[in-house]
Amino acid sequence: MEVKGVRLIYFSPTGTTRRILESIAEGMGVEDIKHINLTLPEGSRQTLAPFSDELAIIGAPVYGGRLPVDAVDRFRQLKAGNNLAVLIVVYGNREFEDALLELKNLAIELGFSPVAGGAFIGEHSFATEKVPIANGRPDNLDIQKAINFGVKVRDKVAAPQFPDATMDLKIPGRFPYEAKGARTMAVAPVTIKESCTVCGTCAGVCPTAAISINENVETKIELCIRCCACIKSCPEKARVMEDEMWKNIAGWLNKNCTARKEPQIFGVDM
Ligand SMILES: Cc1cc2nc3c(=O)[nH]c(=O)nc-3n(C[C@H](O)[C@H](O)[C@H](O)COP(=O)(O)O)c2cc1C
Ligand code: SF4
Ligand code: SF4
Repeated sequence: MEVKGVRLIYFSPTGTTRRILESIAEGMGVEDIKHINLTLPEGSRQTLAPFSDELAIIGAPVYGGRLPVDAVDRFRQLKAGNNLAVLIVVYGNREFEDALLELKNLAIELGFSPVAGGAFIGEHSFATEKVPIANGRPDNLDIQKAINFGVKVRDKVAAPQFPDATMDLKIPGRFPYEAKGARTMAVAPVTIKESCTVCGTCAGVCPTAAISINENVETKIELCIRCCACIKSCPEKARVMEDEMWKNIAGWLNKNCTARKEPQIFGVDM
């Protein structure tokens, strides 16, 4: 198939997954790029129009070695008709464990035909300037790898012998899944009142509508998935994690996940 368009289907609270998907699409060299962004509550319920010479690139971050529960829930409403799909997870330089296998199994369940997959690295959601964890990723090297991956996938599906026996995409991971997913901690970022201008940016980026803006910023802790989109988007640096256990996890990651990991690609030779 000559790829004439791509659909980027993603859940990406802090935007690293989205950037990788956009770079893969860039490598495919197509102009017709449609975004099916399932991150925010208002965009979370979408359906797929029929495909025509288009390829789907589906992406989500890794939470606790698995896909975020909200991403799975939002992907599940999509129904495909045997359409080709590239599967991407983005993780914060610790591990991706069973997440990419979970995405492959889910994509097949939804009616997609996986052609290739990749696990890329993005700045960890819990990272700050003072406690860096893969800060600045994806960087230029990651972006170049994503672009090259896009070129390879385009060539793979355009080859006359495609689809062939290589269609059974091998993805690492364990089934039944052993990774437990994001821990339930019942904590949320807090707002430093003295710094907050009540601009509302944080509420606008929250994927679960946990934040409401009245005279002050109010957060429903039980809805928070600790994605840190509010922290990273606050122009006044007024959203912070204060919880000790959460800060300890960030400190552990900062000390133990320093060795740079590189993107791993499955289904094409790079
Ligand atoms: C609750 C939670 C759990 C996470 N678990 C992992 C993990 O198991 N392994 C890892 O390397 N990164 C983990 N991360 C980091 C994200 O996978 C990483 O920062 C990713 O780039 C975020 O994607 P986004 O920018 O598209 O939101 C976790 C992040 C959050 C918020
Ligand atoms: S983004 Fe920051 S400054 Fe704006 S309302 Fe939220 S916490 Fe306050
Ligand atoms: S309140 Fe929680 S879920 Fe909402 S943006 Fe902040 S960290 Fe993410």
